[in-house]
Amino acid sequence: MSYYKIGDLEQYFKHYKKSVREPRKFWGKIAEENFVWYQAWDKVFDFDMEKHDIKWFTDGKLNIVKNCIDRHLSKRGEKAALIFEPNDINEQAQVISYNELYVRVAKMANVLKSQGIEKGDRVCIYLPMIPELAIAMLACARIGAIHSVIFAGFSAEAIKTRVEDCGAKMVITSDGGFRGAKTIQLKNIVDDAIKDLSSVEKVLVVKRTNEAVQMKEGRDLWLAPLYEVAEESNVAQIMDSEDPLFILYTSGSTGKPKGMVHTTAGYMIQTAYTFNNVFDYKDDDIFWCTADLGWITGHSYILYGALLNGATTVMFEGVPSYPNPSRFWDIIDKHKVTQFYTAPTAIRSLMTEDYSYITGHDLSSLRILGSVGEPINEEAWHWFNDFVGKKRCPIVDTWWQTETGSILISPLANVTPTKPTYATLPMPGIQTVLMDELHNEITGNQVMGSLCIKFPWPSMARTIWNDHERYVQTYFSDFPGCYFTGDGALRDEVGYYRITGRTDDVVIVSGHNIGTAPIEDAINQHPAVAESAVVGYNHDIKGNGLYGFITLKVEGTTRDRENVKKEINQLITSHYGPIGKLDKIQFVEGLPKTRSGKILRRLLRSIATNRLDTFGDTSTMINPEVVQGIIDERQ
Ligand code: WTA
Repeated sequence: MSYYKIGDLEQYFKHYKKSVREPRKFWGKIAEENFVWYQAWDKVFDFDMEKHDIKWFTDGKLNIVKNCIDRHLSKRGEKAALIFEPNDINEQAQVISYNELYVRVAKMANVLKSQGIEKGDRVCIYLPMIPELAIAMLACARIGAIHSVIFAGFSAEAIKTRVEDCGAKMVITSDGGFRGAKTIQLKNIVDDAIKDLSSVEKVLVVKRTNEAVQMKEGRDLWLAPLYEVAEESNVAQIMDSEDPLFILYTSGSTGKPKGMVHTTAGYMIQTAYTFNNVFDYKDDDIFWCTADLGWITGHSYILYGALLNGATTVMFEGVPSYPNPSRFWDIIDKHKVTQFYTAPTAIRSLMTEDYSYITGHDLSSLRILGSVGEPINEEAWHWFNDFVGKKRCPIVDTWWQTETGSILISPLANVTPTKPTYATLPMPGIQTVLMDELHNEITGNQVMGSLCIKFPWPSMARTIWNDHERYVQTYFSDFPGCYFTGDGALRDEVGYYRITGRTDDVVIVSGHNIGTAPIEDAINQHPAVAESAVVGYNHDIKGNGLYGFITLKVEGTTRDRENVKKEINQLITSHYGPIGKLDKIQFVEGLPKTRSGKILRRLLRSIATNRLDTFGDTSTMINPEVVQGIIDERQ
């Protein structure tokens, strides 16, 4: 029997059991039957759980891009691989066939090589959602360079931290990017970010907006002239299963972002497998995931998972509200999209618009809807189901993380009965458990706890770039022997999981992970600010908003507070990026603290979310007198 495609619920349970009882056989068969290898692996996995050294498909040799493109050429060379829908409705969409994608990736790969990029070098990519972004990622993977995509909404400082941390030799960017009615000057931001960084030897610049940019002699190069003369074929680099494929940064609850390292074979196999089963993929499907390629969702499902299956994947440059809030629905009808995978925050914002924006649309091409990035609330789920899916499309609520590489808990479309707000059942191979505060596994159903996974899976991140210790500390120290997700979850009477949200200092704002520590660092740069604490609170559209509690220095108390608020948000924008701006700011006399000087964030979270009944134990507090004032002046 083939383990790749799950046909019905009974088969799902069979595959699940097999994957737990005989994981080597299960994953080994999937790897063997569905991918091309230069050399077979030795062991399906090899773990040293003392050192948290995790290997899958040891000594296997392959190239993921050969699996994404080359092997499809004989059968579906003329099939559309990428459909690019530009920001501007007057600009033509581009349809890029697998044949054309091969040539474009080969040329880009040859350009990178001509500029001295070799296997193992890090290349940071800071591009808008244009085909060159996908092509640059694939070109890196083809020659064995490690890509690290930085979301094009991040500020210069955020880029600097990432480029510096991974020691990138090259940055690929563009003159600018179009986003709705705005133009963003990406090259200028990169210039600012890397001015003091010695590792960056070359900056490759794609032309998109045609605005004037400064080109630094010897460092900066326009892509076009190099691309024009580049050879149209390229021999893919032979990679080891465990060679890093990419680094992607995600927020931690403290300090600098974590460079999650994903390796080649395990990531390839599990993104392909989950893409196929979660979205019930069929040959003629047109798959559209609305994420940005700068996030893991884009990496795994716009790009790798889709191309590995020989699918047609849509890339949209713009935003859902431009030129008006019917843009998503226009695109679905225009390209006859069959799977539409988006985030609850987008749904919540579109459902507040006039119904006429959606009701005039056909949407009959749709077969399957997907949600990702944060819990989907009941109201949004029903709106998605009623207005977009017209009650005939299953909704897959997919739970996973940058660290997990691929979807771990989700219904399988047309296989698993769905239940609003539930991510339902773990994928085969994923041994989910709930743990209590004493670190014991909670068995049985109708229970709640910390969501952990007790057996490694192929697409898990192997380490944090340059900081294995932090990897072990962050993911494996809370619940020894288990990977801790940082999320809480409940398991209902039939074993379905519902994610209840983060249990640490990460806040999911509009589906983006925001660590509160770097935001506080930015706020604290303001000369009038003494101290700050940022927590999340319920927000109708964004899921969570950011609420800052701030104490001012004595000399700061006389300043115009509205101005200080504005300046604080400007600081956040420049040090972190606009996605970290505070929705609410409250100046307080003092922040509640424990005797050891730790800010009691739990208490501030209760105040911000208006849940004064969830204060919990406050006996360790050193300054209880500040609390009433904070409550009275709550925003
Ligand atoms: C949250 C995004 C509820 C969760 C793929 C997780 C979700 C964090 C869901 C990872 C979902 C993601 N339901 N919560 N379906 N999907 N999350 O790394 O808190 O950007 O830990 O990966 O998003 O966010 P990340």
